[in-house]
Amino acid sequence: MPSDRPKVLVTRRQFKDQVERLRAAADTVVLDRPAPATPDELRQAVRGCTAIFAHITDAITGEVMDAAGPQLRVVAEFGVGYDNVDAEAASQRNIAVGNTPGVLTETVADFAFAVIQASARRLAEADRFVRRGDWKWFDPLDLLGQDIDGSTLGIVGYGRIGSAVATRALVSGMNVIYYSRSQPEDGFGCTRVRTLDELLKRSDFVTLHCPLTPQTRGLIGREQLKKMKSTAVLVNTARGPIVDMEALTEALRDGTIAYAGLDVTDPEPIPANHPLLKMDNVTLLPHLASATVGTRHKMSEMTVDNILAVLEGRLPPNCVNAARLNWGR
Ligand code: DGY
Repeated sequence: MPSDRPKVLVTRRQFKDQVERLRAAADTVVLDRPAPATPDELRQAVRGCTAIFAHITDAITGEVMDAAGPQLRVVAEFGVGYDNVDAEAASQRNIAVGNTPGVLTETVADFAFAVIQASARRLAEADRFVRRGDWKWFDPLDLLGQDIDGSTLGIVGYGRIGSAVATRALVSGMNVIYYSRSQPEDGFGCTRVRTLDELLKRSDFVTLHCPLTPQTRGLIGREQLKKMKSTAVLVNTARGPIVDMEALTEALRDGTIAYAGLDVTDPEPIPANHPLLKMDNVTLLPHLASATVGTRHKMSEMTVDNILAVLEGRLPPNCVNAARLNWGR
């Protein structure tokens, strides 16, 4: 017999206790597979759903929303960034889009600062050096890195995560400058610069913390990389497409900049034949910034909270398009 309970799709495996919370309220299908659903699989799987528990690997387009059907009320993204969800298409269809701000701020900031330090001191390269058996004896000129203390960190995007990275940098003796379109004042102990170019010219380390939007796609391209110091390090733990990967590869190859630390790439995963994989002056990581047990669990819980609220007839507690919805308020 067809069930009259709402249907929820969870597009990747998730914490069992959170799936149980969904199961108590709805018929819940979890796509527990090694790889993300293809667009075709996704369109099939969403049919009849009231809620989608989505992940960064799912392109939730208007087409996917239409494939779900008119009962779809919420797309709840597991993450703070929701660039994989067409929020405009959702608003046009009166579908709420939820996300998980706040709970991952400190974890992502810890990780971004760890990547800054690991890049400064060439840790990934040094690990490979030891594993290859190249460590013969102490050489005072081997694997020299760059000092963090006294250097200048340029933060692009000074929201929750960018400012949490700033606090870590300040206690490590860095001078912190930032570029932000939305945060007009000098942050505590940090200086706001007027232009991105100024930030790029002055920084020894540049770290990206802006969302991926049409305005930030390709923000760091050939021209911007040329403005950076030849000793500079670029760290991206935000979204891959903010950086033009081809331009970055060239810049690392010809010495326009010294080093990059990338937790995100475009595309993800980075293709197996990508030239960056053969280069030593880049640290490559698999989109790990929020990946601690505690934080990922809190993100899962918030995503389920966003869905359960909708199943109970309320707006998600964290809703990015609340102002655009007409839910009879
Ligand atoms: C986020 O929360 O945006 C993380 O990058 C996970 O996608």
